[in-house]
Amino acid sequence: MPVITNIEDLKRIYARRVPKMFYDYAESGSWTEQTFRENSSDFDEIRLRQRVAVDMSGRSTTSQMIGQDVAMPVALAPVGLTGMQCADGEIKAARAAEAFGVPFTLSTMSINSIEDVAEATTKPFWFQLYTMKDEDYVRRLIERAKAAKCSALVITLDLQILGQRHKDLKNGLSAPPKLTPKTIANLMTKWAWGIEMLGAKRRHFGNIVGHVEGISDASSLGAWTSEQFDPSLDWGKIAKLKEMWGGKVILKGILDEEDAKMALQVGADAITVSNHGGRQLDGALSSIRMLPRIMDAVGGEIEVHLDSGIRSGQDVLKALALGATGTMIGRAFVYGLGAMGQKGVTTALEVIRKELDISMALCGEQSVQALGRHNLLMPVDFSTRWT
Ligand SMILES: Cc1cc2nc3c(=O)[nH]c(=O)nc-3n(C[C@H](O)[C@H](O)[C@H](O)COP(=O)(O)O)c2cc1C
Repeated sequence: MPVITNIEDLKRIYARRVPKMFYDYAESGSWTEQTFRENSSDFDEIRLRQRVAVDMSGRSTTSQMIGQDVAMPVALAPVGLTGMQCADGEIKAARAAEAFGVPFTLSTMSINSIEDVAEATTKPFWFQLYTMKDEDYVRRLIERAKAAKCSALVITLDLQILGQRHKDLKNGLSAPPKLTPKTIANLMTKWAWGIEMLGAKRRHFGNIVGHVEGISDASSLGAWTSEQFDPSLDWGKIAKLKEMWGGKVILKGILDEEDAKMALQVGADAITVSNHGGRQLDGALSSIRMLPRIMDAVGGEIEVHLDSGIRSGQDVLKALALGATGTMIGRAFVYGLGAMGQKGVTTALEVIRKELDISMALCGEQSVQALGRHNLLMPVDFSTRWT
């Protein structure tokens, strides 16, 4: 058994195990990938303030996200095609999150369906909604999420049209993979993945196939998105969706102060400061760099979560110290899942918790609630360099 000490270790195993098409799908950003890279490298610009001779016994990483108790303020982000990274991937990730005590978010574009995950878990999970032109389908999706007792609706706002990721086009990304000489050659080197996948509950988009009629190609994410996603989504529609849902709503994909204020106005319970992991608007600033401005605009009035670029517990600490009350991880759990299934997701969460806990202690804090700007050392122009 390899010794896993950090998320990078999981990524190395993941790269060996999973077909190139799905590795590339996760490990890419749009166009030049500048935003994708800076999401992580901007965390490195923030340093931690070491404190000593502070009682560090009795520490705790426990907290709450939208009123729910969490073992640490780190939720699993919605990730489309998770069930292609590993057979029954959504079920395995949801089970790992449940056992660990953090929220799991199921993507609209998942392989396992809402019902599959509900059946395989005992605690409520969050459901992420992409809004479609077909209002009836959206209504039915929301009803299905309610019936499954999902405890929050995460409405993603930064993907009304799909950002171009070159590798997905070149690889002909689809679920399941189309068998071409190139994909067959690659799949032959990924036999463990393939054998598991033969026994998977599903290999198509579980929330779509069988629930919508007249789709030209439901296996292609690109085709489905351009045909079905609603380019006219606006704040009025968001308010209607919130009313239709009637429960907790998290608006994901906020990266600007003005949009954060609008989210507050429509009565969202939380926002996720996010640029979709650098997969949408290349050239946008990183989430961590935008966080201080957004906290200045709406901090204290709405719960603020952050994702994009988190690869360690130290990154989580930095986001919390800048005012976020929660975070989400995407790729960090996908690496674990692709590497070692459910156990890999648990390992990713353990790695992050340990890093968060030890860093917190060495910063002289006993709880995540105590973290603040005073724990950080930052370039003076960190959030104002680009105006
Ligand atoms: C492979 C992949 C698929 C994703 N699919 C979705 C999705 O279906 N819905 C969504 O709201 N966000 C999706 N995201 C964005 C994540 O929810 C999250 O914002 C992002 O992964 C955070 O960045 P990180 O991967 O650097 O942690 C996806 C991200 C990745 C990497």
